[in-house]
Amino acid sequence: MTDVLHLTSQGATALADEGPVLSFDNVSVGFGELQVLEDISFAVGPGETRVVLGPAGVGKSVLLKLANGLLRPDKGSITLFGEEISHIREEALFALRTRTGMVFQEGALFDSLSVRDNVAYQLIQELVPDEEIDARVREALRFVELEQTFDMFPSSLSGGMKRRVAIARALIHNPDLLLYDSPTGGLDPVTSTTIIELIVKKRDVSRTPSLMVTHRLQDAFTMCTHRFDARAGRMTPLPKGETDPNTTFLMLNEGRLIFDGSIDELVACPDPFVQEFLE
Ligand SMILES: Nc1ncnc2c1ncn2[C@@H]1O[C@H](COP(=O)(O)OP(=O)(O)OP(=O)(O)O)[C@@H](O)[C@H]1O
Ligand SMILES: [Mg+2]
Repeated sequence: MTDVLHLTSQGATALADEGPVLSFDNVSVGFGELQVLEDISFAVGPGETRVVLGPAGVGKSVLLKLANGLLRPDKGSITLFGEEISHIREEALFALRTRTGMVFQEGALFDSLSVRDNVAYQLIQELVPDEEIDARVREALRFVELEQTFDMFPSSLSGGMKRRVAIARALIHNPDLLLYDSPTGGLDPVTSTTIIELIVKKRDVSRTPSLMVTHRLQDAFTMCTHRFDARAGRMTPLPKGETDPNTTFLMLNEGRLIFDGSIDELVACPDPFVQEFLE
């Protein structure tokens, strides 16, 4: 069986000496009168997972859409895979965007398409032969433990299953950067943990760089304090006091990036908003 998900992400490894996979430098964006993000700078390096925290409406989804060029900034510069994308032509951007995998907020599956066709969406656009599509979709569904849903339609899936299908769709072409927008939003705590387990599995199996938005502080802590144990086939806690060194945090408030650092630094951060958020 060929490993169609290329579980060791060669893309990410190849970038190891080439600086960040994604960087924002003094980025600002607004819509009409509304200033959403102001002077935001951060980077996602090879192998890094960056978790974005912040209150509703602060601009977390806008940040992810800027990251793969679905929105363009008013000021500043965004570099994706070494290319400045703020002003490049749509065709050039399209090629870069196909190297990212996006899990949209609420999953955003097409109700009229089967699970197979939802997951295959990008491969169908690329005119990949049907047989190869089937094999790759099955492999992606196996990764999210939903092989049995291949022929089903989204309307017959639970909220958590839909989210897993959305993750399979984002993984199908072995992206060099994963963007997860509130992957546990609207899910109960138990289902949320199963989603975080998948994200941790992807993180630890392939080290694909990721930018993940979450409303749930619990997600952030779980990601830092657990790893995927490939032999046991499940997520297990790290030894007490240890945290994943490649999972770090960004926090937005009122359009500004008010925190960028590790979980220990987050917990110790004196900023009153950070402390209130943690409580
Ligand atoms: N395309 C757009 N046109 C106009 N305003 C927009 C657009 N996209 C986002 N906004 C506004 O930008 C602000 C930030 O929106 P965004 O969706 O990024 O928030 P968020 O942090 O993701 O919130 P939530 O936690 O609820 O998902 C909101 O006030 C929103 O109304
Ligand atoms: Mg959002």
